[in-house]
Amino acid sequence: MCGIVSYTGKRSARQALIDGLKRIEYRGYDSAGIATHEKDTLQVIRKPGRIEVLAEEVDKVEPEGTLGIAHTRWATHGEVTEANAHPHLSNNGKFALVHNGIIENYVTIKKFLESEGYTFSSETDSEVLVNLISYHYDKEPKNDKNNRFCESIRKSLLHVEGTYGIVVICDDYPNDLVGARKSSPLILGIGKDEKILASDVSAFVKRTQDVVYLRDGEIIHVTEDDFSITTVTQKDVTAVIEKIEWKAEDAELGSFKHFMEKEIFEQPTALENAMRGHFSEDATTAIFGGLNMSAQELRQVDRIIFCACGTAWHACLTAEYLIERYARIPVEVEYASEFRYRNAPLDKNTLVFVVSQSGETLDTLAALRESQRKGYRTLAINNVVGSTIARESDGGIYQHAGPEIGVASTKAFTSQLVIVAMLALYLGRMRDMSLGDGSQFVNALKQLPEQVHQILEKSHYIQEIAQKYAHHEDFLFLGRQILFPIALEGALKLKEISYIHAEGYPAAELKHGPIALISPKCPSVFLTNQESIFNKTLANMQEVKARKGEILAIAAAGRIFPEGLVDDLIIVPPAHAALQPILATIPVQLLSYYIAVERGCDVDKPRNLAKSVTVE
Ligand code: M6R
Repeated sequence: MCGIVSYTGKRSARQALIDGLKRIEYRGYDSAGIATHEKDTLQVIRKPGRIEVLAEEVDKVEPEGTLGIAHTRWATHGEVTEANAHPHLSNNGKFALVHNGIIENYVTIKKFLESEGYTFSSETDSEVLVNLISYHYDKEPKNDKNNRFCESIRKSLLHVEGTYGIVVICDDYPNDLVGARKSSPLILGIGKDEKILASDVSAFVKRTQDVVYLRDGEIIHVTEDDFSITTVTQKDVTAVIEKIEWKAEDAELGSFKHFMEKEIFEQPTALENAMRGHFSEDATTAIFGGLNMSAQELRQVDRIIFCACGTAWHACLTAEYLIERYARIPVEVEYASEFRYRNAPLDKNTLVFVVSQSGETLDTLAALRESQRKGYRTLAINNVVGSTIARESDGGIYQHAGPEIGVASTKAFTSQLVIVAMLALYLGRMRDMSLGDGSQFVNALKQLPEQVHQILEKSHYIQEIAQKYAHHEDFLFLGRQILFPIALEGALKLKEISYIHAEGYPAAELKHGPIALISPKCPSVFLTNQESIFNKTLANMQEVKARKGEILAIAAAGRIFPEGLVDDLIIVPPAHAALQPILATIPVQLLSYYIAVERGCDVDKPRNLAKSVTVE
């Protein structure tokens, strides 16, 4: 979604801004722009389309200022046009602003400003805010230069409803950035003789790993050699400087064509990293100290609610099957966007988990806050250390999958799957799972990275299958029980990056409606289980074959299919039942990836999608 990069330092801002924008490009956007402070005026360059288009224009103009702000916009209010792109200037040209989020009461503020003589050249809510800042600036005492800039922003924000991460520059202040946040991330990177304030650490990780995460309600005033933080309610804040754990190379392509491909192939390592340090010494259970809950407290939990969006929601659905089966605790899975408004009655021994790769998804964050507001202990499974969800939850588990740049989530999903499997083991062993079953579970987990590696070694074969199926416009993904969430994930992955219509169903639901779609033009991808339910899935496959539907099956080695039933078969290693979802995921990811490549799609930047969805 929208991204912010801003710079103050001794060098020209231009290079850091364009480089930073390129590094956050993966978040999804449709226009981009920069504003720099040039000898007492603010110069704005904006372009619809890719950052390369903006960079060409910037190269022509050659701005030299050492202070600047930049933005990638993912359109919400108004179409993708130059006028709607950020940065936005105030009417008098004194202020430039970049904004992530949505100002919900912008219509009211706009009317007020119009009555004061302000005019607007865009359809955005953001242009309203920069003019409100300008309005308050004019009202501030002129002799208090130190406070005037920050105060005008603070007073404006008191009137704003909605969400924002903003950075503002003013032509009276050639070295100063002022930023603020509410439900939209903003992080300060502290470099040598320079500071970068951005919405994502990727924007500056090449320059520094020393960071300060801003919290909601905070305003930061940054110059090239200093910074201070206060709150919208005028309290001073002591900043904590933290080190980020990953390096710039982690977010680079290396020898891969796309980040999605790289991240699919990183899964053996990502799974190892997710499991590292979470096995008991006697290898009979998992341990999760980060939950901040004693065994006694965990034994008292009699219901768990999982909330998430998109792919992370599919990980939650897998958690439902696993935790109910191995720990015998009832689990419910909620879309975060529904849960936050649903006002579900919860028992006092309910534990809530939110799952989010980015830790910034607004709906998931809102679900976390709503759950905490009602007094429920709310834990997070999250990949980004220092993210808002990680900081606001009451405890949780880090995925340690490394930065995920591809918009389509892959390694973050399987690392969530392994974590929920280990959680089921942990909770199960505290209740009635035997020591023998626990030790078998741990052994199976330890073999998992190698098994994933074995599937990845067959990527060329999966690519050939993908090429055969790539011309179809409709697909069904079908799986039963614990593989049903993976059928949903397979369909989501395919539609996200190849724009093919795909639907995921429990295989037995086929006959209740989707069977109407079956024809030679609509292939079915069947994810088959290794247990007794396999035979039931075979019956569902026969129903498809009888209607001339093509079948691509994913099955464990040793499974036998009646002759002529399956058109193509991808074999995965046999595994512990709890880990079958992970092994089934790898072929569907590769299938989607290769189909999208075959169709010439922009795999890492699929149309209309954003990596981290920070609006409702
Ligand atoms: O960062 P999160 O895990 O909270 O993101 C949730 C969804 O937006 C995300 O999984 C989305 O569905 C991806 N595009 C999946 O590939």
